[in-house]
Amino acid sequence: MRVAVVGTGHVGLVTASTLAYLGHDVVGLDNDPDKIRLLKAGTAPFFEPGLEELVNEMVAAGRLTFADTVEEAIPGREVVFLCVGTPPRASGEANLVAVETAGRQIAANVTGRTLLVEKSTVPAGTARRLKTTLVRERPDLQAELAVASNPEFLREGKAIEDSLEPDRILVGADDEWAFEMLRALYEPLTSKGALLIETDIATAELSKHASNAFLALKISYANALARLCEKSGADVLAVADVLGSDHRIGRAFLNAGLGYGGYCFPKDIQAFERLAVSLGYDFPLLNEVVAINNGAVDAVVEKITDALWNLEDKRITLLGLAFKPGTDDVRLAPALVLANRLIERGATCVGYDPQAGEAAVAEVPALALASTPYEAARGAHCVVVCTEWDEFKTLDLAKLKEVVEYPIIVDGRNIFDYDQVREAGFSYYPTGRPPLV
Ligand code: UGA
Repeated sequence: MRVAVVGTGHVGLVTASTLAYLGHDVVGLDNDPDKIRLLKAGTAPFFEPGLEELVNEMVAAGRLTFADTVEEAIPGREVVFLCVGTPPRASGEANLVAVETAGRQIAANVTGRTLLVEKSTVPAGTARRLKTTLVRERPDLQAELAVASNPEFLREGKAIEDSLEPDRILVGADDEWAFEMLRALYEPLTSKGALLIETDIATAELSKHASNAFLALKISYANALARLCEKSGADVLAVADVLGSDHRIGRAFLNAGLGYGGYCFPKDIQAFERLAVSLGYDFPLLNEVVAINNGAVDAVVEKITDALWNLEDKRITLLGLAFKPGTDDVRLAPALVLANRLIERGATCVGYDPQAGEAAVAEVPALALASTPYEAARGAHCVVVCTEWDEFKTLDLAKLKEVVEYPIIVDGRNIFDYDQVREAGFSYYPTGRPPLV
């Protein structure tokens, strides 16, 4: 099928390249000419495992091209994916200006029957607004234009895998021809057993927010349990295993630690809560999820203060700066929230991350950057694990001990076991587990 993908951010570029991989003829459009120049030169504008290779492979196969104008990209395309940003407004509600603008520009350039598919996370009701916008722009094509919702469930760092082996593909539409197009589009996946769920549009839109909010709720539940475990002497890892062994609960997303960050959960939960309120339903549970998440960083600050007393003139090493492993994304990364809090209180912070170092320093200029974990830990009064990159799990703790000033580890992601740190001679403050002092 002839597909356009509008917006080549994380969701857009993965959507464009994986649809090309499934055999479609795809053009990726972005209004940032620098991004398009980079992509045409074979460079992905951000790190995502395997993505740059896939993009270049698809370009070489002639199935993926890039454009920086709607006039070039849209005419002749049957399906247009909207993957533009939906950043939060100051109130927390989603800012949909980019969605509306793109919708208008797309409508002005379509040449025949076209399905506009929302891929960006948008509040329920957006498709209805979009449809009105399209028809206002092109009354001549009223019956030829439809809007569908096909929310993205990919995780950064696992984006290609999630797109090509999805748990489910969710499509919401009003018109039978829209469903037919989406069935045809995803046929290469459904023919291999992928689950396709068809709903009305509002259900699809709402399900996306509901999924992200539920995952965040699980994390906050684990973090609330962690506080309770710390006070009662219980071990949150074991508690999570017990909960997780009940198949009705499941073990995933019950890892207590520094909490969730990134561009999706914090923004989507706020937007979901704002949507609920605007529809006349208070959803205080979501505010509680956010409050517990903020408290996860507070808990780590408390542990560090407990171990070091005053933070002035203390040197603190942050291992991991990305909001999670496998990405160079530092947007709302708990590590950076922590760095700011520690720096405000007079500490010197030295960070190391296998991918996200430069991005982190751009956000927190007072953060010093090291090129290895051992260099980061040299002279440290405390080493804090902020992101659970695999390379930290196999650190030579004896070597680490030799370079630090005080042998103290605060483990914000519970990556070490007690024997490891005990043998190396560290005091150890995990999350929701008894400390080893
Ligand atoms: C999330 C969802 O998992 C995707 O399904 C969704 O498509 C995406 O948002 C989106 O809306 O675009 P992502 O933000 O890439 O994906 O990252 P996750 O792997 O979900 O992790 C989110 C945060 O939760 C990270 O900061 C991670 O460290 C934290 N987390 C995760 C925990 O603190 N504990 C856990 O047990 C799991």
